[in-house]
Amino acid sequence: MKPLDHALQNLRQTMRRDRVFDFVAEHRFPFQGLGHTVVPGVVDISHGTILYLENISVSFDGFKALNDLTLYIDAGELRCIIGPNGAGKTTMMDVITGKTRPDTGSAFFGQTMDLSRMSETDIATAGIGRKFQKPTVFPFHSVFENLELAMQADRRVWPSLAAHITAAQRLKIDEVLETIGLQMHVRERAALLSHGQKQWLEIGMLLMQDPRLLLVDEPVAGMTHQEMDQTAQLLTDLAGKHSVVVVEHDMDFVRSIARKVTVLHEGSVLAEGTMDEVQNNQQVIEVYLGE
Ligand SMILES: Nc1ncnc2c1ncn2[C@@H]1O[C@H](COP(=O)(O)OP(=O)(O)OP(=O)(O)O)[C@@H](O)[C@H]1O
Ligand SMILES: [Mg+2]
Repeated sequence: MKPLDHALQNLRQTMRRDRVFDFVAEHRFPFQGLGHTVVPGVVDISHGTILYLENISVSFDGFKALNDLTLYIDAGELRCIIGPNGAGKTTMMDVITGKTRPDTGSAFFGQTMDLSRMSETDIATAGIGRKFQKPTVFPFHSVFENLELAMQADRRVWPSLAAHITAAQRLKIDEVLETIGLQMHVRERAALLSHGQKQWLEIGMLLMQDPRLLLVDEPVAGMTHQEMDQTAQLLTDLAGKHSVVVVEHDMDFVRSIARKVTVLHEGSVLAEGTMDEVQNNQQVIEVYLGE
């Protein structure tokens, strides 16, 4: 093993959440998990890492969609994940959000939250927001109402829509409107928005919940170039305040926002680095040429 590889492996071992906190491991688990209270937005990022995926495997009928996947996301970073069709990118997001349970491996949100023991709802409440490719806004409601609805975590209270919102909630809606650039469309019905604007509205709806980690799957599919530029700006602005993981096929777009890029292939990490590093990586080139 090369000295650098060895040093990196050592560093990984030291960074491993379970190694760092071995001595509290047994005491940690009883306090959370299915059926336990999750405090919204409170995640322990004292080690600078918000997401730990370690040695995760997921099989579908014997086919390994994820194969010993290990990946760490820093608090506040903007990470791009690329990889050919079927590489496991969406499955990885399914594991993070609790939609799919890993066969092996561990998934932790910050130092203490074991995602494999939490329900999908608890994971969302804890601060992981996910944007699917197809926008799921409420077409017959205005932009404002969509944001208002998104604020109400308990969907049973919807009939109270617009009855009264607090000044703080109004401020929050204004802040999100500004972030997603839809101030001029606040009273417009969502159905009338362009495809790109609907995508931003959906990101806005996620922001109403103050997620700490935002997962975005193929955000610019079907967008015009101008919309893509605005989306690049939006996601770049969100980083720092939030940790953002973006899965995207459009390489020009990825290049425009990329800091660190992870390449997935056959369910594991093939390469990681700057856009230039991964694009010049011989294995990455072969995988993409072979597509
Ligand atoms: N629920 C499922 N049942 C069976 N196979 C599945 C299921 N979900 C995913 N797969 C398979 O797992 C592999 C990984 O799929 P995944 O959707 O994670 O890839 P991806 O990287 O998101 O691809 P794309 O770029 O096309 O979106 C694929 O071969 C897919 O067919
Ligand atoms: Mg996918």
